[in-house]
This record gives sequence, structure tokens and C-alpha cells, in this order.
Amino acid sequence: MSGLFFPQGFLWGTATSSYQIEGAVREGERGESIWDRFCRVPGKVAHGDTGEVACDHYHRYRDDVENLKQLGVGGYRFSTAWPRIFPAGRGRPNRKGIDFYLSLTDELLRRGIRPALTLYHWDLPQALEDGGGWGNRDTADWFAEYAVTMYRALGDRVKTWITLNEPWVSAFLGHYTGEHAPGKTDFALAVQASHVLLLAHAKAVEAFRQEGCDGAIGITLNLSPVYPLADGEGDGEAARIADGYRNRWFLDPVFLGSYPADMLSRYEAHGSSPRIGERDMALMRDHPPDFLGVNYYSPCRVRHARTASVLPFEEGMLPEAPVTDMGWEILPEGLYDLLIRIKADYGDPRILITENGCACRDEARVGVMEEDRERIEYLASHLAAAHRAIQAGVKLEGYYLWSLMDNFEWAFGYTRRFGITGVDFATQARTWKRSAAWYQAVIASNALGEG
Ligand code: FCB
Repeated sequence: MSGLFFPQGFLWGTATSSYQIEGAVREGERGESIWDRFCRVPGKVAHGDTGEVACDHYHRYRDDVENLKQLGVGGYRFSTAWPRIFPAGRGRPNRKGIDFYLSLTDELLRRGIRPALTLYHWDLPQALEDGGGWGNRDTADWFAEYAVTMYRALGDRVKTWITLNEPWVSAFLGHYTGEHAPGKTDFALAVQASHVLLLAHAKAVEAFRQEGCDGAIGITLNLSPVYPLADGEGDGEAARIADGYRNRWFLDPVFLGSYPADMLSRYEAHGSSPRIGERDMALMRDHPPDFLGVNYYSPCRVRHARTASVLPFEEGMLPEAPVTDMGWEILPEGLYDLLIRIKADYGDPRILITENGCACRDEARVGVMEEDRERIEYLASHLAAAHRAIQAGVKLEGYYLWSLMDNFEWAFGYTRRFGITGVDFATQARTWKRSAAWYQAVIASNALGEG
């Protein structure tokens, strides 16, 4: 037998998120989310697409769990929609929202699939946005209340909890570049939002422990190793700043309980330092997560930019770098470098890869298995890199492939496909791509190759 065997008990899963798959945005007394609102702003989402129907998972969740069962996964990562639980963000929880996730988790458990629940995957209740959103410290408290509601409702079934998905994206794409909801373009506000998000995370971890929940709680960060594009003057320094902006700004407070000093003074010098409350950093320090969720897709390459801007670097590409349909560079070694670096710099934490996957230009014909060789190659090469990291001692315990099925890809609407199951959005028919059959075999053998 040949092949790369994964450790016994390695968790194989797939990942999705509420707004990207559920649809049924006005059912079950769900409230409006910032993405419902943002999708209606002309020009923000390709073709004016919305998550109104998405994969209609709200009605088809039983079939989707059946699909997971066929794949043979041991775990499934999904998110709960805050506005289904608290239509106005806070107050009295909505029974119908809780019931939906009880049914979903029951269905998973009945089939022996372990749920991993993300509390926040970007669909903030619009009512909270109207009160200042992530720019307002109170949002961290409302988040902790929402978290406690979920621990009490689902804690007997869910043993893997994730507070936030990719706070860098929520903060900076949502409040600085404006590509994501709520579409603001204010750097200082984005930095403040990042702090409130991190505070919300720490409060939710604190509450998890105060409530005496069993199981593990972590946070998912989108991380990219940063490489200088060239070895010109200032390029190394540019990479260090980009790494501070994307990675250290989140890893440091989560694991070390402090912001990186170089970035803090940089933001300060540009009038955009966060307002940090007296107890905030102690709270973060006292409540490190049980594990880190890593979302990895692509590396980041930068060069020095001659500008007085707070972030004096420019992102770029190596000539002829292989890319996915997102235009993202394919670099499996980037995942290896990243995992080794986290182990070295952040106290060797337990790690789950909570997302990794590839957008391809699939045709998604109903009933025809897509030959998505490119996706399989992407997945196989990244799993091989993950395997190498495990060999090097990284405590990597599982892998959730993004994504179970094609879905609403944020600002790209339905124009990008990440699924291993194809979705025909006109009929909602689901059809396996070749990568689904391939992943099924990987899971069954707990190995890559011909194990
Ligand atoms: C990540 C998001 C996820 C999906 C993938 C492609 O940043 O967490 O929802 O859109 O990218």
C-alpha cells in the first residue's frame, strides 16, 4: 500500500455558512442581516445576486445531511444566523430559529456527524448595525449574550464551537475597502471594529467556561503567509507590515493577549488606534481559545509602496503563478509555512483547518459529474502540505473542506463555485463533482493517494 496516511482519529469534514446556503431569509421570523441589506445596494454584488434563496438549505437540510453521510465525513462545520436567533440582535430569543438548528444538529448526530458550530459568519443583525455595528463596543456584549443562548440551547449536542469566522474580513473588507457588508470605507472604524470583534470573541470564550460547557471553543482566522515579491529596498519591511495587518493583529491578541507593538504604534501615528478598554487585554489574555481554526486559500505577496499611507505596501503576483478561478495564487507550501509558524510563534496550539478549497470554472450540469481535476489537484496538494506539517509536529486535528456545495460567494454572487457538490440554482438539483467521489475515497482510507 502506498499513500500518505493521516493520524488515527483525524477529523474529515466540509464547511458552509448560513447566509451562503440557507436562503429563506424571511422565514421562521428571521430578522434582516447586514448582507440582506448590502445585496440590495446596486453594484455591490455581481449580477445583483442575493442570498434570498441561495441553496435553499433551510428547506433541504435533510438532503444535505444525507449528502454528508454519503461523503462519509466525520464532521460538518456550519454557522448559525444571529438574526434567526435574535431578529433584532438582542432581547428575547426566537424559538423558531433555535428549533431549526436543533433539527439540523439532530439530523447530523443521527448520522454520526459531529457538528462544528460557528456563531458568526458575517450575517450581523441589521438592527445592531443601525446601532453602530462592530464599531460599537456594546455589540461585543450582545454577541456574548447570543453565544450563551446558543450554548444553553445546543451545548448538549455541539462540542466544537467557533466564535468568529475571519474577523479580518469582517473588520477590513466590511469597514475599510467596503467590498463586504456593511460597506463602510473608514480605516479607523475598521481598526475599531477589529478590536470589538476580538473583544466579542474573548467574552464568548469567557462565557463558555463560566457556563461550564464541555467541548472546545476556538476562533477561525483567515491567515496567509506573506512573502516579499522581490528583494528590493523596503520589500522585507513591507512584508512585515502586511503580516502585521493580516495575521499578527489577530493572532497576537488571541494567543498572547496583546496587540503587536509595531502595528499599534503605526495605527496610532495615523490616527486610527483602537479604543481599548482598561480590562480588554486582560480579558483576552485570560481566555485563550482551546484551538485555532485556520482558513487558508492562498499566500500574500507584497512590495514596498512609496506612499505615506498607513499600510505602505502593495499586493502583487509572481509572473505566471498558477491561480484559481478567484485569481488567487495556488501555493500549498504556503499552508505548510503557515502551520509551522503558528506552532513556533503561538505556543503550539491545537489546530483545525476550518476552510480550504478551490474555485473552478465548473459547468454544473444537472446529473453530469463534473471532471474537476483542477480542484482535486488543489485539494490533494494542500492535504499533502498539511500532512507534512503533522509529520513536523503540528497539532493539526482535522480538515473541513470549503465547500460542501456551490453557494453564494459574497460579492461574487453565484459566479464562483467552490463546491464538491454542484448546485443548479434554477432547480436546486445537487450533483456530485469528481472531487466529491475523490474526497469520499480519501476519507474512507484516511489517506491521500492509494492508501
Ligand atoms: C472565506 C469565507 C467563506 C468563503 C471562502 C471562499 O473567506 O470564510 O465564507 O467565501 O472564503
